[in-house]
Amino acid sequence: MTDVSFAAEQDLSGSAALLVFVGEGGELTAGAKAVEKASDGQLGRAMKAAGFTGKKGKLLEILAPAGLGAARLLVAGLGEGAKADARLFEDIGGEVAAKLQTVEKQVAADFSGIADLAVATDVAAAHFAHGVELRNWRLDTYRTKLKDEQKPKLAKVTLVGVGKSAKPLVERLHKVAEGVAFAKELITEPGNIIYPESFVERVREKVEPLGIKVTVLDEKKLKKLGAGSMLGVGQGSVRPPRLLALEWNGTGDEDATPLALVGKGVTFDTGGISLKPGPGMEDMKWDMGGAGAVAGTMVALAGRKAKARVIGVCGLVENMPDGNAQRPGDIVTSMSGQTIEVLNTDAEGRLVLNDCLTWTQRTYKPKVILDFATLTGAIIISLAHYYAGVFSNSDSLWNKLDEAGKSVNDLVWRQPLSEPGGHYDQMIDSTIADMKNIGGREGGSITAAQFLQRYVDEGVEWAHVDIAGAVWRPKAAPLYDKGATGFGVRLVDALVAKHFES
Ligand code: BES
Ligand code: MN
Ligand code: ZN
Repeated sequence: MTDVSFAAEQDLSGSAALLVFVGEGGELTAGAKAVEKASDGQLGRAMKAAGFTGKKGKLLEILAPAGLGAARLLVAGLGEGAKADARLFEDIGGEVAAKLQTVEKQVAADFSGIADLAVATDVAAAHFAHGVELRNWRLDTYRTKLKDEQKPKLAKVTLVGVGKSAKPLVERLHKVAEGVAFAKELITEPGNIIYPESFVERVREKVEPLGIKVTVLDEKKLKKLGAGSMLGVGQGSVRPPRLLALEWNGTGDEDATPLALVGKGVTFDTGGISLKPGPGMEDMKWDMGGAGAVAGTMVALAGRKAKARVIGVCGLVENMPDGNAQRPGDIVTSMSGQTIEVLNTDAEGRLVLNDCLTWTQRTYKPKVILDFATLTGAIIISLAHYYAGVFSNSDSLWNKLDEAGKSVNDLVWRQPLSEPGGHYDQMIDSTIADMKNIGGREGGSITAAQFLQRYVDEGVEWAHVDIAGAVWRPKAAPLYDKGATGFGVRLVDALVAKHFES
């Protein structure tokens, strides 16, 4: 939790850390000028010594600055002012939080007199605070021996020279950050803590107070509904599967056509009988990243009271090898009635998602469906961790996703998809059932998407977002440390804000 407050003027005697901004060519903003004066020119000398010229996104740190109360002075480069946009201020906030997280309780950022940015100063300041909050997340539950100097301290951001008019945006972005934090929490927790039932309970506690309606289907109900595909995946685990449906309706109209989100929630993926190799298998605790993104998005949307009806469905199972586990070659019947030859028990995500897609369409009749899934290793080979792959039957939905993604830096890249019966679709035809669950090594992410498309009803606009890479970063970036990224929450929030709110 990062607390944000406002101050009209710089308090040169206070503040643990003070941040000022410098434009391209070392041009001091009003806040930086005040510091230059109070420190008797130390700021300018330090900039010169460090070769700091105000380049976009560069950060300079001056410890124990003369003439100031602050223990440290940070100077951020804006580059060309006219190009400084919300994303730049988010990134600066993130970098500042990374630097200060364990060393200072508070940071005051001075926006006085800054104008001529690509966005209004209020917007810049709100996004700065958002960047601080996004980066200032970590899960310390299991660190019992942290020394004082290792403990997180940063808890307060003061926006100096920023009017209270920034407050609504600060609050809105705070709700989004809460959704991102919740997704990261679910994703970071290990498989012995987050499994289908505990996922449901953790989400329930979080979302019921927000006015989200929670529906849970247990094994018995799933069996009755004929969810043979999803149940086949879970049958080797002692932890029973769950289908979790979350409904947020901010429209006031019970029958408003909903947007549906569907998430792959394999709480741990060993591969099943088609067992994965040992090294790196621990990564499969985040094979519920799609469900985490869906739950986090619902928290964000309900938190900020979005004027839309959105359904979030999480397909929750654990994929384990066992005496009762599904065998390669097994044929299962999905809720849709279509039969599947399971040639590889490690291609389980699509087996979970298809029943979720069928149930979601039958229950809520959405016109637009987005599914989020850590579906294929192949998408990491294609795009690394920097983009999620999108497969869509709709150019217009793709364009909206692309635009939303760029606006919040949850980046997406479109991948090919055949019409039903087309080349890629034929790759999953089976000789004994309606389809097989793998199409071979080639085009592995595409055939996975083709499989899902076979469960999308006529007339429904659908996009499948493969987040196997984007869900997790091996290296820190401004807005997140190495680890869970919370990918998808800000993407869908931006999409809903632009296209689904009345
Ligand atoms: N959960 C994995 C995909 C994955 C791999 C996510 C690496 C993140 C990192 C998925 O269930 C899987 O195992 N897919 C197989 C499919 C194959 C058997 C057709 C894969 O990608 O190897
Ligand atoms: Mn798998
Ligand atoms: Zn998986």
